[in-house]
Amino acid sequence: MTKIYEKYSLKELNSFKVDVYTDYYVAPKSLADIREVISDNKYEDIPKLILGGGSNMLFTGNFKGLIIHPQIIGISIESDTENYVIVKVGAAVIWDVFVNWSVEHNYGGIENLSLIPGTVGASPVQNIGAYGVEVKDTIYEVHAIKMDTGKHRIFNNEECKFNYRESIFKNKLKNQYLITHVYFKLSKKANFKLEYGNIQKELNNFEEVNLKTIRQAVINIRESKLPDPEITPNAGSFFKNPVVTNDKFQKLIKQFPDIANYPIDKDNVKLAAGWLIDHLGWKGEIFGRAGVHKNQALVLVNMGDAKGEEIIGLANKIRMSVLNSFGIDLNFEVNVY
Ligand code: EPU
Repeated sequence: MTKIYEKYSLKELNSFKVDVYTDYYVAPKSLADIREVISDNKYEDIPKLILGGGSNMLFTGNFKGLIIHPQIIGISIESDTENYVIVKVGAAVIWDVFVNWSVEHNYGGIENLSLIPGTVGASPVQNIGAYGVEVKDTIYEVHAIKMDTGKHRIFNNEECKFNYRESIFKNKLKNQYLITHVYFKLSKKANFKLEYGNIQKELNNFEEVNLKTIRQAVINIRESKLPDPEITPNAGSFFKNPVVTNDKFQKLIKQFPDIANYPIDKDNVKLAAGWLIDHLGWKGEIFGRAGVHKNQALVLVNMGDAKGEEIIGLANKIRMSVLNSFGIDLNFEVNVY
């Protein structure tokens, strides 16, 4: 019988290091253990939350339910052809441990996603992305267990309904499936993506361009801009980059000629929320025990024992400020509980 803890502290299980507890907590190690927990009548009618690395969530109070923290690990090659490999990875494997493994084996596709915090199981949920790559580009299948029936289901890439920081697991099927494994299709042939931002510039510091140097370049860029959650608790980008119509963009660029933007198609343009927030002077601002990171305005940080409400309070001030100045309503990328 897998042990279920009561009044369990979540402080070390969320990267904002918010000090809250959950009524019940369980860390099942196998599919059998997971099925045992979800079929236990005692927990049938209470809210359940599946926890990965806790690096994209903000708790605003104690969790009145059961937190399931799966511990399924392992990386194995399921098929190996001339051009690619299919790799099966346990949901609890730390994302960057897997990226490092893939680079060491010379399998390409996820090197630009180096150093993103969190677990492999959480990677498809919000379709993690950085430096011109999204995890959806390499996901072959997602294997999951249905929470109410315990049945196994395989989602192919299309069924995951991936979009910018979105998937079916975050929307229509939110909390309905527990992801146990993700299967990735990684390339054995070089196919580097170096166009985004200053990757190319950073790579000039290296003699060769290969998976290892690209990984190191990404790590260098991230470390220079983003706070280390172990030192300054945070959850990465707090807001999503907003998409506006081209008409709206044309008005904005007249008023703000240097506004950072990425055209999506002929009707839509993605804007950098970091630029909007920075332009309004929020970078480095501190309110109580919550703050805006000094090097990247998209990231909110816990300056020390902040409560979830303080961080949300700051996020809402920023949201209102951006709405008033640019007429754009920012959405949170972080999941708030
Ligand atoms: N910018 C500013 N001020 C700031 C931040 C950004 O002017 O404080 C400008 C930059 O100069 C640049 C533009 O905004 O022109 C974009 O900035 P950056 O390249 O740093 O990327 P981002 O759009 O702010 C996104 C992701 C990050 C990811 C980077 C790199 C989202 C919400 N965020 O940030 O992802 O690392 O691109 O690919 O899409 C995360 O999701 O947690 C995360 C960190």
